[in-house]
Amino acid sequence: MLIAQLTDLHVGAGRRLAYRKVDTARALENAVAHVEAMMPRPDVVLFTGDIGDLGTPDEYALVAEILKSLTIPYFMVPGNHDRRGPLRAAFADATPVAPGRDFVNYVVDDFDLRLIALDTLDEGKPGGVLQAEQLKWLRSVLADGDQKPSVIFMHHPPIVTGIAHMDAQKLETGADELAAIVSDHRDKVQAVLCGHVHRPIHTIWAGVPLIIGPSVAHQVALDLREDGPSAFVMEPPAMHLYVWDTDQKSLMTHLAYIDRFDGPHPFFGADGKLIV
Ligand SMILES: [Fe+2]
Ligand SMILES: [Fe+2]
Repeated sequence: MLIAQLTDLHVGAGRRLAYRKVDTARALENAVAHVEAMMPRPDVVLFTGDIGDLGTPDEYALVAEILKSLTIPYFMVPGNHDRRGPLRAAFADATPVAPGRDFVNYVVDDFDLRLIALDTLDEGKPGGVLQAEQLKWLRSVLADGDQKPSVIFMHHPPIVTGIAHMDAQKLETGADELAAIVSDHRDKVQAVLCGHVHRPIHTIWAGVPLIIGPSVAHQVALDLREDGPSAFVMEPPAMHLYVWDTDQKSLMTHLAYIDRFDGPHPFFGADGKLIV
């Protein structure tokens, strides 16, 4: 089973450039074309939040227009730049919720891996929240007696990455409780897949792999200084492709760059002069 993760699209209405520089609509078009051309084809695409940049209906209308080219089933969770109402209005099939519930928490059982969506959006705030009722729901999902292997996907990572300005907007509430639940079911949870940080980051957390995917549009600068400022960089748009081997019970992560990067690539010495 192949899972493509596309995250942190930040599409602006009217194809507005992010930071007056990044053509995020074009980046999503490129990402969709990249996934569609993959051989073998992914079975499912997971969008792990920040679908829009401001969470407005016209942003989601543009995303929906672009996603008409995506013929692979896809599912979404909201990020801090999203708004649940407009997102769900535009992508009802990709953001299911149980009757009577507000959060975009759901289970997809159509594949060899069970996909568990966690909604960490705290509307209007950069940091994330998992409410007690969501954690209770997750515990019940994982404790159902079925041993089917699962992955959890969510926007805010429940970890400190070392990138200070992103850690300042991490999962603020519910991370410890989530770790306890995942640890209790680490035989079942194969990985926790996140977005939000705009960099590929891997660690072990609560006894399972915790993997943050790179943005399909732009990355965040790798800066581990305690006072490192907020900064984006035009490192290449990228995505993760996860390969689940049912027989081996192994999950492999591949990093794939999106777009063409034909060389030669320039290299600069310490003096700032071009080497190649
Ligand atoms: Fe983002
Ligand atoms: Fe985010």
